[in-house]
Amino acid sequence: MLDRPASSQRARLDMYNANTLKLGLFGANCSSGRSPTRVPERWSASWEDCLALAQMADAAGIDFMLPIGRWKGYGGETDMHGETLETITWATGLLAHTERITVFGTVHAPLFHPVIAAKQCVTADHVGEGRFGLNIVAGWNEGEFEMFGVEQREHDARYGYAQDWIDAIKKCWGPEEDFDFKGAQIKLAKVRAKPKPYGGTRPLIMNAGSSGPGQAFAMRNCDAYFTATSEARRGGAEVMKKMVAGIKAEGATLGREIEVFTVGQVVCRPTQKEAEDYYHYAIVEQADWGTVDGMLRIKDITPEKLGEEEYKKKREYFAFHAIGGYPFVGSPDHVANQLAMVSHGGIRGIAFSMINYLDELPFFRDEVLPRLVRMGVRER
Ligand SMILES: Cc1cc2nc3c(=O)[nH]c(=O)nc-3n(C[C@H](O)[C@H](O)[C@H](O)COP(=O)(O)O)c2cc1C
Repeated sequence: MLDRPASSQRARLDMYNANTLKLGLFGANCSSGRSPTRVPERWSASWEDCLALAQMADAAGIDFMLPIGRWKGYGGETDMHGETLETITWATGLLAHTERITVFGTVHAPLFHPVIAAKQCVTADHVGEGRFGLNIVAGWNEGEFEMFGVEQREHDARYGYAQDWIDAIKKCWGPEEDFDFKGAQIKLAKVRAKPKPYGGTRPLIMNAGSSGPGQAFAMRNCDAYFTATSEARRGGAEVMKKMVAGIKAEGATLGREIEVFTVGQVVCRPTQKEAEDYYHYAIVEQADWGTVDGMLRIKDITPEKLGEEEYKKKREYFAFHAIGGYPFVGSPDHVANQLAMVSHGGIRGIAFSMINYLDELPFFRDEVLPRLVRMGVRER
């Protein structure tokens, strides 16, 4: 294991390195990753592939891996996300086989009892010697909740429950012993939760709620807030800076220091044309519209509700934007420039997917990472 100095909360937030722009791989625990495509090379999410990817990413200096908490596929020809590895056990396995990279678990608060979840996180964190992170999800997918026999709360009430949940988790990670917990919705008596997280600190906590209550939850409780930047990107680094400053200022009013992250999809090839051609083939021509329609139906987005024309736009938006994430498509220069722009806009990091992560990461590692070092947003 790496000879790491005693863990500090700051070192955890920095993922134990000085990279200005943090890079993470998003969605590798789920079949098809984030790309609703029928191409045969689409991501399998098998354990063998995940392990090989994590070790490659670890050696390349990628900062984190962020899995998706998903329990049911979206249907269609490929049944995207039909096969998923449970995220905390997945993270624990990867942490045992890597040395530097931070690995998140993504936890649906209403589905995991907080005392069990707190202990699972601590276990993963000890295995990784302080490299485990927690992504809290309040839930949006009704069908998934059904199969647990758990009723989905009204949208805003989900974040009320999540508040109790994270308060209980933090208490389990804190110094108290034999404590009672009396939240509005969660009551616990005489809780014992030992050991505590690694190194006398606690895991990095993130959330990606996009609604008002979702964002407010992140401001109150999290270290990292993940948000879409497609709109801001059109205005360039200055518009993005304003957006990021606004979010950070909101956190600061609560006395909290929040880092802002975003999501994307990378298709990088030796030339701009090759990248655009492959993107067009895999993402447009070979789109699995059945799986996209299945996902939108769950979000209550249907042609009946929106009208054909509007629905078509939505459908294409999700298919062509990695089910929600800006596509970085191009040559190494182009992709590096765009990533540097995100960094100059004040974004702390980006979680991105690839169509086949294992096939595509080596080129990104060899061509894009050195450019980012030269641009001053990554260390060597
Ligand atoms: C980076 C990122 C990761 C997410 N991970 C998951 C996930 O693993 N599982 C899930 O059900 N939702 C996930 N979501 C959805 C959000 O948690 C959230 O439900 C969604 O953005 C809607 O926001 P709202 O809950 O405030 O309405 C993710 C979103 C983003 C941007």
